[in-house]
Amino acid sequence: MDFDHSPVMLEEVIDRLDIKPQGVYLDGTLGGAGHSLEIYRRLNKDGILIGLDQDIFALETSTKRLKDANGQAKTILVNTNFKNIKEVCEKNNIEGLDGILLDLGVSSHQLDQAERGFSYQKDAQLDMRMDRREELTAQIIVNEYSMEEIKNIIQSFGEERWASRIAEFIVDRRKEKKIETTSQLVDIIKAAIPSGARRDGPHPAKRTFQALRIAVNNELGILEKVIKDGITLLKPGGRFCVISFHSLEDRIVKNVFNNSVNPCTCPPEFPVCICGKKPEVVLIGRKPVTASNDELERNPRSRSAKLRVAEKMIIQS
Ligand SMILES: C[S@@+](CC[C@H](N)C(=O)[O-])C[C@H]1O[C@@H](n2cnc3c(N)ncnc32)[C@H](O)[C@@H]1O
Repeated sequence: MDFDHSPVMLEEVIDRLDIKPQGVYLDGTLGGAGHSLEIYRRLNKDGILIGLDQDIFALETSTKRLKDANGQAKTILVNTNFKNIKEVCEKNNIEGLDGILLDLGVSSHQLDQAERGFSYQKDAQLDMRMDRREELTAQIIVNEYSMEEIKNIIQSFGEERWASRIAEFIVDRRKEKKIETTSQLVDIIKAAIPSGARRDGPHPAKRTFQALRIAVNNELGILEKVIKDGITLLKPGGRFCVISFHSLEDRIVKNVFNNSVNPCTCPPEFPVCICGKKPEVVLIGRKPVTASNDELERNPRSRSAKLRVAEKMIIQS
C-alpha cells in the first residue's frame, strides 16, 4: 500500500522555519516525509536533516523518498520516539539545531492501514500502537483496565460526555466476551450513547478512539518534555514549529512556549526579578496559524490543525 498523506500547512511551516541552506534541521515526526522533503531540498552539502519516526513503516517510506530526491545534505534517520531527541543529537554529535518540526498525531496512512487498528471505520484487531515494539495496545486497555481508568481516559483524552456510560458498557460486555476488534468496540460505543445524542455531529466512536490512541501512545505525556528539550537544543535564532490536532495538545504546546517566553517565578509585586530565570524564546505570531481556505477544501485533516512557532532568543552578551 502506498504511503498516502498530504502534509498539513506545508508552505506555512517551510516559511516559518526560515531554512538556512547549511543549517541543521530535525523533523521529529517524519511520516511520509511530506515536510522533510521540502526542508531537504533547501539544504546544501553542509546542511543536515535529522528525521525521527517511531513507526518503522513510516521511516522506511521516508528514507526511500529522501534517497530518491537526490539531495546534497546529510541525512540521519532514526526509528525512535521523539522523546529521545536529546540522545539522538548527542549520539550524532549535533551541537545545535536551526529548526525543529513536530507534526503531531497519526498519519492518514496509519489510519488507512486497517490492521493497525486506529480506525473506527475499518474492522481490525484493536491495536493502535504507532511503535509496534511497545507492549501496550488498545485491546489491553479495554479488557484489563478498571472501569474508572477507562472512564478517565475517555473523558480526559476524548473529552467525551458519555465517557462513564461507555466505560460501563465496555466493562459489562467484556465479562461475556473479550473485546478484540475495532467493530466490537464501535458496537459497544453505539449501544452506550443514546440514539438521540448520536444523530448529529461526528461518528459516535471518534472521541473514544482518539482517547485510546492518545493513551496507548502516551501522546500527551511526552509532549512537554520534548518541547523543553527541543528548546535547549535550538541554536540562537533557531525556530520550533509544532502542529497539533486537538485542544489538549495545543494547550500543552501553548503553555510550554509561554512559560519559556516568561519563565520568571517572582511574585508580581516584586519590583525586580530575583529568580534569575531568563526568557528562552520569543513567539513568532501570538495566535496559532491555521490552514488556508484552499487547503481546508483539499485536505480535511487540516481542519483542526494549529501551528505554533517559537524562536530561540539571541542572547546579547
Ligand atoms: C502526522 S504524521 C507526520 C506526517 C509528515 N509531516 C508528512 O508530511 O508526511 C505523524 C507521524 O509522526 C509519528 N509520530 C507520532 N508521535 C511520535 C513520537 N512520539 N515519536 C516519533 N514519531 C511519532 C507517527 O508515527 C506518524 O508517522
